[in-house]
Amino acid sequence: MVQAVQGAGVVVTGAGGGIGAALARRFAAEGARVVVNDLDAARAEAVAEEIGGIALPGDASTIITDARDALGGTVDVYCANAGVASGGSEASGEDVWARAWDVNVMAHVRAAEALLPAWLERGSGRFVATVSAAGLLTMIGAAPYSVTKHGAYAFAEWLSLTYRHRGIKVHAICPQGVRTDMLAATGSAGDLVLQPTAIEAEDVADALFKGIEEDRFLILPHPEVAGFYEARAADPDRWLTNMNRIQQRWEETR
Ligand SMILES: NC(=O)c1ccc[n+]([C@@H]2O[C@H](COP(=O)([O-])OP(=O)(O)OC[C@H]3O[C@@H](n4cnc5c(N)ncnc54)[C@H](O)[C@@H]3O)[C@@H](O)[C@H]2O)c1
Repeated sequence: MVQAVQGAGVVVTGAGGGIGAALARRFAAEGARVVVNDLDAARAEAVAEEIGGIALPGDASTIITDARDALGGTVDVYCANAGVASGGSEASGEDVWARAWDVNVMAHVRAAEALLPAWLERGSGRFVATVSAAGLLTMIGAAPYSVTKHGAYAFAEWLSLTYRHRGIKVHAICPQGVRTDMLAATGSAGDLVLQPTAIEAEDVADALFKGIEEDRFLILPHPEVAGFYEARAADPDRWLTNMNRIQQRWEETR
């Protein structure tokens, strides 16, 4: 059991399935009171019932006041997990780009805006962002996703460096492939680069809890991502040439 989580009021967005459901289950198993949010009401209710949590259907951006009320006035841990896997390119259209910004970045900003005043006043609060390795690296065939996940990572980093001396803990979870509906929908690019090393959603929850215990910002359920991230920083052109080889291999498979 993780001391910091026992009895805590926790909100997990996009928790009707996949990584969010695994996080909700783990927080509940660790003794937290969990609000299970999802756009899909039936899925949110099923997970809430299973774990003895509180279902709160709706768009992640709109539920913070209701979540706080449901937890008796205080959110201790907020997991900004809901995300959309917008594959595509510069030509994907304004709607796709706007939706990716809205869910993958702005939902996090709106949650932080709502939560920070109370957290700063009491000197504690924990913000968990489910980002992606695409926020540190860049995913083949997925420009809106890669760009907005970089945004989500930057925002989590900014929160952490700005408020860490005021008791605010921030974690950025950056997995590669995780066996969920989202991975199944990534098509041939996902098959090429994500499926071979894909892990289970429960592994992501394990990595987060290890990170909470060790008080670490960057959570890497695939530890090898640290080496890729280092390689990108050390020699961007070499890294891009290698990534472009994968792009060309992907083009041959399509
Ligand atoms: N699966 C992967 O390989 C992988 C890898 C890295 C990062 N991630 C990230 O993990 C997070 C969870 O993804 P997943 O793989 O569990 O996906 P998933 O599709 O299995 O589950 C996502 C859930 O979020 C819900 N949702 C979508 N938009 C929402 C919104 N605006 N408000 C509330 N709920 C919403 C969906 O209904 C769905 O139940 C996402 O942010 C995703 O980008 C996933």
